[in-house]
Amino acid sequence: MATPAQELDIPTLTLEDGSFARRLERTMQLPADTWLARTLFGYSVWRYDDVTAVLRDKRWHSAAGRIPELMGITDERFLSRQRVSILSAEGDMHLRLRRLVAPAFSPRSADRLRPFMRDVVNGLVDKVAAAGRADVAVDICEPYPIPIICELLGAPKSDWQLFSRWANDILEVFSIDMADKLDLIVRSQDELDEYTRQLIAERRSKPADDLLTDLIAAEEAGDRLDTDELVMMVNAVIIGGTDTTRNQLGCALGLFAEHPQQWALLAERPELAQRAVEETMRYFGAVRGTIRFASDDIEYRDVLFPKGTFISVSTAAANRDATAFSEPDVFDITAHHGDQPHLTFGSGIHYCLGQALARAELQEALPLLARRVPNLQLDGPTTWKPDGVGIFGPASMPVSFDAGH
Ligand code: HEM
Repeated sequence: MATPAQELDIPTLTLEDGSFARRLERTMQLPADTWLARTLFGYSVWRYDDVTAVLRDKRWHSAAGRIPELMGITDERFLSRQRVSILSAEGDMHLRLRRLVAPAFSPRSADRLRPFMRDVVNGLVDKVAAAGRADVAVDICEPYPIPIICELLGAPKSDWQLFSRWANDILEVFSIDMADKLDLIVRSQDELDEYTRQLIAERRSKPADDLLTDLIAAEEAGDRLDTDELVMMVNAVIIGGTDTTRNQLGCALGLFAEHPQQWALLAERPELAQRAVEETMRYFGAVRGTIRFASDDIEYRDVLFPKGTFISVSTAAANRDATAFSEPDVFDITAHHGDQPHLTFGSGIHYCLGQALARAELQEALPLLARRVPNLQLDGPTTWKPDGVGIFGPASMPVSFDAGH
């Protein structure tokens, strides 16, 4: 007989452990036979096997659509206009969306943007190279993903600023004080939706070599995405693809600034880019975890989680689990660590749809930066973003480096 989770004598991660970094530290200190802890709103797992088991079990549903509720939002006007996104869809609905859109997010589609990615990074470095100082979070990481998402979707350069503003506003759904920003979020979402509808109409009459055209053409067994679903996908790409990438690049640069030999090695051997990206994402992922809820009563490891139970999975902790990786606390871009996949892109049916694009963006940016920003050093205190709902990275990271490259 499984024991109901609420009857277990297990540690509780309290408010003081609220930050992902703090929780990571705390869970690492728990006895080796402890695999489950209580949290403010449910339970938490952090071992590699448990994290993958939860993420691959289809009875645990994505809580992406329930974030407003978890944050205590009751504003009906806001809640009623929230639509089902690929991030929160489950079952047949998710399967259908995923089947239709997956080909458009193939590694091949990401590869066609690689030259453009290099141009964007070079353009950003050009502005700071002569000075030998920069705030890499503000000057490089923050602006990097927007032109790429625009190019991916087929939006013109003249609209980059608009996209940047919409993305920033809409991403406030992940902020601690989202309740105060509902009007802003709704307004920007409406503007983006309207813009997307126009772009869709244009692409329907004049197809181009971009993601939107691919999504419009996507068809399986006579089934296609309708206009609302296309608008939802564009929203999902902006929510999933901007803050994640910029913060992952920021986390990577912070890490390399602390490991100068690894930075020099990457400059010398750019062919290590692929491995460097995987190792960076394992060691210091910008997405620290995610949340699921039980769609039914679930028994797991002799524990009964009643329907509706929330569980958070710490992918950051799982990525340092010594049962999955050899020498997990060593950052080494040449290491194999047993070759388990890191979990920063998730696992199971919601595994990051944009992973090929994100990997390409980082694989292009990092070696190029290693070459053009040599001898990278922190030059003042780094300010980290509050690690609220899951995406973490630097808000400000002043650095110095050898000028003129
Ligand atoms: C380093 C950058 C990125 C990281 C760390 C990341 C991480 C993740 C994670 C952890 C998930 C799963 C969330 C869950 O299971 O609850 C996810 C899903 C998703 N990501 Fe990413 N992501 C990144 C970049 C991107 C990019 C560039 C795009 C779009 C172009 C994107 C689009 C999506 C979408 C649409 C989903 C939902 C997939 C589904 O539910 O089926 N992501 N991402």
